[in-house]
Amino acid sequence: MQTEAHPVSEMLATAMEAARQAGQTIASHCLADHEITFKGYRDIVTEADIAAEEIVLGMIRDRFPDHAILSEEAGGTNGNEAHNGYTWVVDPLDGTTNYAHRIPLFSVSIGVVDAVGPLLGVVYDPLRDQMFVARRGKGTRVNDRPMHVSPVTRLAHAVVGLDWARDDAVRQAILIRLLQLAPRVGTIRALGSAALGLAYVAAGWLDAYFHPALGPWDAAAGTLLVQESGGRCTTLNGAPYHIHLTDCLATNGSLHRAVLALIETHDSDPAMDDPHLDRSDRTASVPLLAPD
Ligand code: 2AM
Ligand code: CA
Repeated sequence: MQTEAHPVSEMLATAMEAARQAGQTIASHCLADHEITFKGYRDIVTEADIAAEEIVLGMIRDRFPDHAILSEEAGGTNGNEAHNGYTWVVDPLDGTTNYAHRIPLFSVSIGVVDAVGPLLGVVYDPLRDQMFVARRGKGTRVNDRPMHVSPVTRLAHAVVGLDWARDDAVRQAILIRLLQLAPRVGTIRALGSAALGLAYVAAGWLDAYFHPALGPWDAAAGTLLVQESGGRCTTLNGAPYHIHLTDCLATNGSLHRAVLALIETHDSDPAMDDPHLDRSDRTASVPLLAPD
């Protein structure tokens, strides 16, 4: 699977360089007026998403022309099989709504997926110059310091992150779950960047994070960060998570069952099924993560 021509360390170096360069571009225009286009219900794209994507995809195409790419704005390239077994899964600007409102919490997320699942992942926060890096089987680092999930075991001490879906009914379903969760945990934060929420669980800064409506570009790097830091990712009903599923609960592991018991969804709950999400093209080019 790994070729001599493209060792994983070379891909990781490119992912970090691309994330840093795209992040610097995004950050430098953060306070400017933004060109905001609605691409869907409550779903926007700015000039910075496009500029950052051009930087990242340009670098990948230049150095790894035989690899597939799945990127939030540009979409996917051809099937993975024809591309040497590697797919780059890219979110050039995660937290676009924050960015457009000048709320300083957004990131660049770049993962590489092979037949087993995510192989490496990078989440970069350009405003704080924080680079979260994971490599399958080799642990995680933030700015070269090893990371580990938090040791918190009591719900009452837990800081739980979440993000809202765009769909009205899914938001209502989250509210119902918050009725269970909020009185029992330490506190709750809505962040606006799913990739950063997952990176913070990996770093032990959050004890848990959940999202009901993720894209693979939001989660490919972040869920590898969580797992390689000793944490756990499942769907919101406890099934094994992979990047083509839309709902995800990530925790430090110790708290997983307790949080799951409070937010678990049921098959009879149609509200968690976001009608605005098109799942049909999600499985085209990226293989599944092996069950945990
Ligand atoms: P984005 O900024 O790249 O659009 C905020 O809710 C976080 O969830 C952001 O990271 C956002 O990514 C992501 N997200 C992805 N799909 C979403 C959806 N259907 N509804 C809400 N947020 C979504
Ligand atoms: Ca995103």
